[in-house]
Order: sequence, then structure tokens, then C-alpha cells
Amino acid sequence: MAKYRIAVIPGDGIGPEVIAEGRKVIDSVADVEWVEYPFGADHYLKTNELVNEDSLKEIKGMDAMYLGALGDPRVKPGVLEKGVLLKLRFYFDQFVNLRPVKLLEGVNCPLKNKGPKDIDFLVVRENTEDFYVGIGNRAKIGKNKQELEVLRSLYSVKFGLDIDVDGSEIAYQIGVLSKKGSERVIRYAFELAKIKNKKRVTAVDKANVLDHVYGYWREIVESVAKEYPGIEHEFNFVDAITMWFVKNPEWYQVVVTPNMFGDIITDLGAMIQGGLGLAPGGNINPDGVSMFEPIHGSAPKYKGMNVANPIATIWAGAMMLEEIGEEKSAEKIINAIQDVLREGKVLTKDLGGTAKTSDVGDAVAKRLKK
Ligand code: NAD
Ligand code: IPM
Ligand code: MN
Repeated sequence: MAKYRIAVIPGDGIGPEVIAEGRKVIDSVADVEWVEYPFGADHYLKTNELVNEDSLKEIKGMDAMYLGALGDPRVKPGVLEKGVLLKLRFYFDQFVNLRPVKLLEGVNCPLKNKGPKDIDFLVVRENTEDFYVGIGNRAKIGKNKQELEVLRSLYSVKFGLDIDVDGSEIAYQIGVLSKKGSERVIRYAFELAKIKNKKRVTAVDKANVLDHVYGYWREIVESVAKEYPGIEHEFNFVDAITMWFVKNPEWYQVVVTPNMFGDIITDLGAMIQGGLGLAPGGNINPDGVSMFEPIHGSAPKYKGMNVANPIATIWAGAMMLEEIGEEKSAEKIINAIQDVLREGKVLTKDLGGTAKTSDVGDAVAKRLKK
């Protein structure tokens, strides 16, 4: 019997290609039984199923999940992203989306005069709430009665709305932040700062406009921060932090952010570490089953071409090994990625090279076997 059982969901677009390389690398350092699930566009188009309860229950007994990407031009935007990816994040209550922003050596940074010592911080993105709770609707002119509900393991909330619309049809979307949901992710960020010897946590919001939700978030940051007298904290508005990421990335150590802003600022974070092809992430439930994936999407235009960069996915695999207790193997993988990049011979197109997706996986795996 293998030491670990891991659910693998290759998904759509370049997902299967990058996941194949991630598995190749992990298999060279760890004893894993991969249990593959077909969720994604092809499966949905064939069967009309997004995920199923039996599979979810089965995965509950596994050590982790490894995911490529979801999203396909043949399917309406949001169906697979919400029906598979968000479904999994919510079902397993993976309330932390940990996204390291780290520029490795040998990678061309688009920021002038910035190097690996300047770009090295951790983004902790809340992963279950905010505008991602998925409730809202359209309302036509006249009287409308609408019932909306959010179900979480921490809490549930129902909105019974009487909507009286005059003048124009409308659409609305409700963002929800809970006290417990915010506290646990903010506490995770401070704990992470402590473990990683960081001295500052920066909290992101837009409390100057969306005061109900993000004013609440600020108050919760203030109260959790009191438990950590050795770690300073500050607030950045989301618009300003995009500017500071470009101007002074070296300032940041740990960034904690509500869900939607976290989504946006981590694509920028990916770019200052060399591009989406290099940025990994983990959807973490510290007491449950966590899921690791690159932060990029399915990049449909590169599907099946063997040109996508698999490093983000391989690195996400290293984060997965770290989470399940294989810290040494995780470190080895990151060192092997670093070696391949520093050497600069086997690079995909996004990094200015001509290597194939599979060449990069081979190069990283070869270093590990040495
Ligand atoms: P994307 O991240 O898929 O791609 C944007 C661009 O980034 C690509 O066109 C490509 O130029 C570059 N890129 C991304 N990954 C790369 C890699 N590994 N190597 C080289 N270049 C890479 O974003 P998009 O085009 O906005 O979205 C495409 C689909 O993916 C949509 O359906 C979207 O909803 C979905 N999506 C899924 C996830 C996920 O599963 N976690 C994340 C983001 C987007
Ligand atoms: C990401 C993606 C997802 C998100 C989408 C596809 C649901 O953009 O993982 O960053 O917004 O979280
Ligand atoms: Mn995103």
C-alpha cells in the first residue's frame, strides 16, 4: 500500500498537461497512490454532472487533493468554476488560500531593479466568503420576493427579500463576511507570520467604500492582532496595494485579504514573480483535506500543445507535500525547480525558452533522482 492517497483532478485546458508533470515530479520523491477524478468540461458535457456526493465522501478519507484548472470555452463561464472548483473549496471548508509570491533566481522580473530578495511574501486569501458566497439575482420592475441562503459548516444565513423595483430592472450580488470566518483566516495569517519569523501582517480591504463588510473585517483584524503583540499590522486599501506591489514589493511579508481582492492581487503577485506559469497556491483546511493547484486557469488557447509552464503546478505539489508532513521532499522539489530556473536551459515559452511542458517536468524530476 502506498503511503499517501491523493485525489487528482486534472480538469480542463492545460490542466491535464501540467498535472502530469506535477505527478511525475512528486512520484520521484514520495510514495503516492493517485485516485483520479474526471470532473471538468468533457465529463460535464458527456454526463451533465459537475461533481458527485460519493466522490466527495471518498475524498474525505484521503490525504490531499491535487487540481489542474477548471474552465472551458464550450461551457458558459462560471458553470465549471463554481460547480467544481468552488464546490470543492467550500465542501472541504478550505478557508485559507495560501499563495506565496516569491521570485526565484534566474527568472526575469518585470520590475526594474528588483530581485529575489525583494519579492518574497505570503498572501493569505480568505477562501469561502465575501462575494464568492454566490448569492444574488436579477429583479424586474415591480414587486419581487426572493429567498437566498448560504450554508457553511460554521454557520448558515437566510435572506428573505422583498424587492420593489422602479425605473429599471436590476441585478444584485450579496457579499457575506462572518465573524468566525474572518477570525479564523486572520488568525491563520498571524500564526503563519509567527512560524515563518515575519514581523508584519498587512490586511487588505476597501473599508473606505464597502464599509459594512470591510469595516467589519478591519475591526476583526484589530482584535485578532491584539493576540500577537510581537507582530505589527497595518491596513492597505486594495487599489493602493496594487501600486505598492509594483513600487515596493520588498515591504510585504504576510498579506491577509478577503476573497475577491485576494483573487485579483495574486494575479498581480504572480506577474512580479515572473508570470502565472510560476505561481502556486494551496486551498487549506488545517483540520481537513486540503487542495493544491496553480493559481492560473485552464489557458484554453494552449490546450494540448505541450507548451504551458508546469512549474506553478509542480511547486503547488511541493506545497502539498509540506502540508501532509513531507517537508524534506517539498524542499527538495523547490530546490530542483530553483536549479532548473537558475541554469536556464530548459524553459518554456513564457520564460523565453523553447522547452515543452514535459521537458520541464523531466528536468525537475531528473535533478531529484540525482
Ligand atoms: P488563465 O490563467 O487560464 O490564462 C491567462 C493567460 O496566462 C494565458 O492565456 C497564458 O498567456 C498565461 N498562462 C496561464 N497559465 C500559464 C502556464 N501554465 N504557462 C504559460 N502561460 C500561462 O486565465 P483566463 O484566460 O482568464 O481563464 C481561462 C479559463 O480558466 C477560464 O475559464 C477561467 O474561468 C478559468 N480559471 C480557472 C482557474 C482555476 O481553475 N483555479 C483560475 C483562473 C481562471
Ligand atoms: C483562482 C480563480 C478562481 C477564483 C475562479 C476560477 C473561481 O480565479 O483560483 O484564482 O476566483 O478563486
Ligand atoms: Mn484568479
